[in-house]
Amino acid sequence: MLSFVANPFPENIMDRFDDFKRRLELEILGHPVVQANPYTSWFKRGDADEAQVKDLIEQFSVFSNHFLVVQAKRLVNAGTEEGERCARAILVNECGVGLEPRTGEAEGRTFSNRNAHLEWLRETGRALGLDPRRLGRWDLGRAETHEFLDGLDRTYGSRDGLVGAGASFAIESWAAFGIAQGPEREDKNFWKELIAGLELFDARVRRPKGLSPLPLGFFKFHFVTEAGHGAAVWEELKKSFDDPDFDGDVFLDAGREALDAIHLFWTGLDRERRRLDAPLPPARADVDLDLAQLGF
Ligand SMILES: [Fe+2]
Ligand SMILES: [Fe+2]
Repeated sequence: MLSFVANPFPENIMDRFDDFKRRLELEILGHPVVQANPYTSWFKRGDADEAQVKDLIEQFSVFSNHFLVVQAKRLVNAGTEEGERCARAILVNECGVGLEPRTGEAEGRTFSNRNAHLEWLRETGRALGLDPRRLGRWDLGRAETHEFLDGLDRTYGSRDGLVGAGASFAIESWAAFGIAQGPEREDKNFWKELIAGLELFDARVRRPKGLSPLPLGFFKFHFVTEAGHGAAVWEELKKSFDDPDFDGDVFLDAGREALDAIHLFWTGLDRERRRLDAPLPPARADVDLDLAQLGF
């Protein structure tokens, strides 16, 4: 009787969706990897040297290559038709099939090995003197990169389609964050931050040496296509929200776990760039002196 007085109308789905949207904004868009990525906020200033840029390309290549396996798992485990179609388009695009950037559709597009995303990254690596055949190999990844991929495998690649959908929502919302939402928000988009840092690296380090600018197709393509992915996951969520099997807590937990994993990747890059910035070890003469004092 009390609950009848307190809640005289049937629960309104729109109200529930608005409540859930508020939780998404707080817990997903408010996640530290979206709001305060320690690495990209440094990188965009353009202070990275060649060793630091090479490290970024190497770790990104491991992520990009091994992401294919996780994306295939997302495809086969998708719980909805919308999720399945979206995952299939992303997978074939990663492998080299063209994509309509605004809609994210790969329907009827042509395939080229040259357009596999790893190949674009290899182009960037080649210009930096990196061995293209090494790029993308698991062994090249550091511990944080491996942990990140394992975290994506558990969430984005989960056999539970709802867990995969929550992770997918979080990942695409992070990757599309701020795009076309005004300069202040867009400047926090991690793709944009990386492009800004790489262009400044070209201007500061490569151009004075007469070197050609780095090929940035990999980064620019992703920046352009992410807005479409971001819109697609919102559509997917709207369609599945009313499903009796939809569990908002499972969806959000998976999203947060996926973002925690992504955060690890950037933490690893940040640790390495600080190590590369650290002063060199003592000069040889000092070492010799220390050895002499020890009686050698
Ligand atoms: Fe990609
Ligand atoms: Fe995406």
